Amino acid sequence: MKKLGKVLRHTLRSHENPKHLHGAFRFPARLHHRVSSTLIQAYSRPGSTICDPFVGCGTNQLEAAIHGRNSLGYDVDPLSVFITKAKLGALHFSESELRRYGNLLLGKIENCRRGRDYESLMFADISRLNGAAKRAALSAASTDLIKRWFRRYVIQDLAIILETIRATRAPAELKHLALLSFASILRSCSNADPVPVSGLEYTKRMRERDLEGRRIDPFSLYEKRLARTIFQAIEFLQSSNSVSNHATFNHDITRHWPSDERYDLLMFSPPYLSAVEYSRRHKLEMAWLSLIDTHADFLTLSRKYIGHRITGKEPVEIEPFGDPYIDRIRKSLLHIDYRRARAFIRYCHQMHAFFGHAALHMHKKAKLVTVIGDNTVAGIRILSDRVMSAVAEPLTLSEQHTYPLRNRYMTYTRHNGADICAERILVFSR
Ligand SMILES: C[S@@+](CC[C@H](N)C(=O)[O-])C[C@H]1O[C@@H](n2cnc3c(N)ncnc32)[C@H](O)[C@@H]1O
Repeated sequence: MKKLGKVLRHTLRSHENPKHLHGAFRFPARLHHRVSSTLIQAYSRPGSTICDPFVGCGTNQLEAAIHGRNSLGYDVDPLSVFITKAKLGALHFSESELRRYGNLLLGKIENCRRGRDYESLMFADISRLNGAAKRAALSAASTDLIKRWFRRYVIQDLAIILETIRATRAPAELKHLALLSFASILRSCSNADPVPVSGLEYTKRMRERDLEGRRIDPFSLYEKRLARTIFQAIEFLQSSNSVSNHATFNHDITRHWPSDERYDLLMFSPPYLSAVEYSRRHKLEMAWLSLIDTHADFLTLSRKYIGHRITGKEPVEIEPFGDPYIDRIRKSLLHIDYRRARAFIRYCHQMHAFFGHAALHMHKKAKLVTVIGDNTVAGIRILSDRVMSAVAEPLTLSEQHTYPLRNRYMTYTRHNGADICAERILVFSR
């Protein structure tokens, strides 16, 4: 496998838009589908079963389907599971069924499209939401959040679209594809800047765009997105191997795994230390899709994400981890920033708990392949291969490759130091 890094460098040179539903939702830190495809072919065989315990928007599961492998995915993030299931759901239909459903829904949306022009509504505050917004059956907490982040007329239009999707008779998996398209336009329909990857921000850039008269037309955005999603679903269907099986579950993977099954390959890109806060990033989508109801549920969920930021009140042990490299970093961080030191140690414990469970679910000769970049925290460079090797015990690092990263949604050094301009492929064995 010495040539793997070279193969990837060559493969990633071509500038290609994501196909096969990979880009159907702008998911932060999505693995490059070419990397996934190359690794699946290098480390598994047709018919084998791959598990991605941090499934994100389903890159590995989609590539598994394309290459005739079975797959299982887990993620703690309800939106991530929703997105992945929606994409894989396309495999239940024929090309003509997908096309027919797309045309049917586009026709219905066209019929309920707002007739009035948007210019007059742009800054108008329609104080009462219309019936459709109420029928969207959002919880009180979701309604509050939505009112804060969307213009009133946009809420009404989105609610009409949502209601139309729900009311149009179709199998659940087709509706999920339509809801996936719905989720993927929410950020551009909102007042939040689509760029910051963690959380919601009304930035200077958005204020300027609004002052210039930014126009939001949810109907046009939805029609375009749905048409594209259906096209990509057909593309995915055409390239997939119809005999493979796939399932995705909502689960916190640091806990006991829900099934006793053993896998031929575990393959994932893990959450980065203090990188994307998925719970905050996905708040609007989770509210609209009723994936989370109350603020308390949201807080409980947030704490389950590996690598999430620690608030002052959360007690976290900060004892030495027991590995010389990790404890050296811990010591340096403690001199600079106590909270970051705690976050780092907790990350190591969470990943260690995960690897402990993972090792029990690998066949004797199975590999665990992980793709991860390095971090800089409070000015201290943290080498991911060193950290992963320590926390992955009892597994041992058997191969390592690197490739430069281009054209990934987060390809820049963020203010919190997640340097994601190059990535490591780490291969572990039992
Ligand atoms: C880097 S992303 C994975 C991206 C994925 N490879 C893709 O291409 O879309 C990391 C994922 O880990 C998930 N995650 C974080 N903590 C988790 C936990 N405790 N259990 C399961 N999944 C978790 C996050 O929700 C996120 O989707």
